[in-house]
Amino acid sequence: MSDINEFSVLVIATIVLALVLRRAWQRLCLSMAKAPGLAGHVRWAKRISRWLPSRALSVTEALAIDGAPKEVVIQRINALEQLGHHLTQGHEKSLQWTKTMQPNLSDLQLINRYRVPFPFLSMAATLPITSVWSSSTGNRIFDLDGNGYWDLTGSYGVNLLGTPFYRASIREAEQLAGDLGPILGSYHPIVQDNVRMLRELSAMDEVSFHMSGTEAVMQAVRLARYQTGKPKLVRFAGAYHGWWDDVQPGPGNPMPPAADTLTLREMHPATLRVLKQRRDIACVLVNPIQAMHPNRPAPGDSTLLSNGRISTYDPHAYGAWLQQLQQICRSQGIALILDEVFLGFRLGHLGVQGRYGIKADLVTYGKTLGGGLPVGVICGRSAWMKRFREDRPADICFARGTFNAHPYVMASMHVFLRHWLSPQCKAQVDAADQVWQQRLERMNACLAQHDLPIRFAGMQTIWTLLYSWPSRFNWMFQFYLRRHGLALSWVGTGRFIFNFSYTEQEFEQVMEIVIRAAKEMLAGGWWTLPRGTTDATVKRQLIRELIASWWLR
Ligand SMILES: Cc1ncc(COP(=O)(O)O)c(C=O)c1O
Repeated sequence: MSDINEFSVLVIATIVLALVLRRAWQRLCLSMAKAPGLAGHVRWAKRISRWLPSRALSVTEALAIDGAPKEVVIQRINALEQLGHHLTQGHEKSLQWTKTMQPNLSDLQLINRYRVPFPFLSMAATLPITSVWSSSTGNRIFDLDGNGYWDLTGSYGVNLLGTPFYRASIREAEQLAGDLGPILGSYHPIVQDNVRMLRELSAMDEVSFHMSGTEAVMQAVRLARYQTGKPKLVRFAGAYHGWWDDVQPGPGNPMPPAADTLTLREMHPATLRVLKQRRDIACVLVNPIQAMHPNRPAPGDSTLLSNGRISTYDPHAYGAWLQQLQQICRSQGIALILDEVFLGFRLGHLGVQGRYGIKADLVTYGKTLGGGLPVGVICGRSAWMKRFREDRPADICFARGTFNAHPYVMASMHVFLRHWLSPQCKAQVDAADQVWQQRLERMNACLAQHDLPIRFAGMQTIWTLLYSWPSRFNWMFQFYLRRHGLALSWVGTGRFIFNFSYTEQEFEQVMEIVIRAAKEMLAGGWWTLPRGTTDATVKRQLIRELIASWWLR
């Protein structure tokens, strides 16, 4: 009897030990699949963001922050004054509008505050930039004072075909849907054509319409959880998928990181091991724009403390990664959700799926697909899209929205899709890679010829600016560009969003502005590095400043 008891205890102990070891191994694998740095460690990122004290330097302190000699500081004082003067004079109405509206427009407060690294807010206050436009013609946008700028804001990525196209599509949509008007909750017959064209482009069975990219992603993740009965969502470090809590677990979200979101390392074998190993993963969410900067957040000037911006777009390596993901997701019964909201129709006629030869389970689209009006779309295979069960009628995955499939949005989407599938547009898309690669090379050759310490990296029409020198003032370049006539979105020089309608002459003018702005920045002393400044010395200096600001808070 006692032998049997001892044996049972031994068996139970062995099982418990095996389970504990298995769990420890899984935990270790999960840790190994996290990207290094704060983008991969969202809990730490949140803690640190709460702790980080605000230390706004005075203008005098800021100008000499890198230990520049007196004559350089004087050069900078003059340059700052001149730049402020150019950004103010002739912009009175636009600036007055901004000043009046700012206290009552929460979004405006946020974007004006987060254009530059926060220690330099006092300097930015002398460099006013407005966010109000009253008209546009082609690729030019105009402020309230009639000043014109080249539009590289890209309307957050919506603008792929040039603003005139979207204006015309909205006008046509009004005619197409006008007889019905805004009757909601049912469908305009034009939806039939849209579904046909979307199925053709996505090679999927079904379509659902939503109001924004965020909503489309939210519902795609819910469907994956519903169909698999599993809770975990895998997203990759740094990737943006809208502002829903589950896909934004780090700073920016007031809630603790969602327990069911795993933030893993993109383009890394440790992640594939986790996907193979775990049994609780419902879906993997991929934003292919991350190919430009895997495991790093979107590059914004508000975090440009030196020259740490990196861009490493390798289409072959990224394609191979997507194929590996597809294979593992399929074999593990995990939904592969390709979030094409930003890039969808930029990289090729059949979107990212067509570009890299992959087939996702669910694809989300938005932005440009609305033909200028707000939209979010999911295309997916029927097995993933179904929101109810035949044999369990009460178990549904509910998703309805008042404005889903709004007739005017469906009509402008129709105009977009009809154009997109036309041979003329197809030829333009097919040529785009070559056109934009040549333009990128031309721009960089020109920058090199003028000995300027900046270079562009790009993924076709989406470009980012890389700074060669560890200046503390690289973030200022966005103001020089604005002063010379380029409009960027509030994230600044991290994203230059071109569109297919930019002509050679227009591109030449953009190039001239970049060169002119960079020469002026150079002349202002912002890129004059005190002797001995290197990446390493700047990093040490930043750490010292951080500790000092915490100490003095
Ligand atoms: C990849 C991706 N997914 C989702 C979204 C959210 O879309 P929306 O702003 O329409 O909610 C964005 C927005 O930039 C995006 O880039």
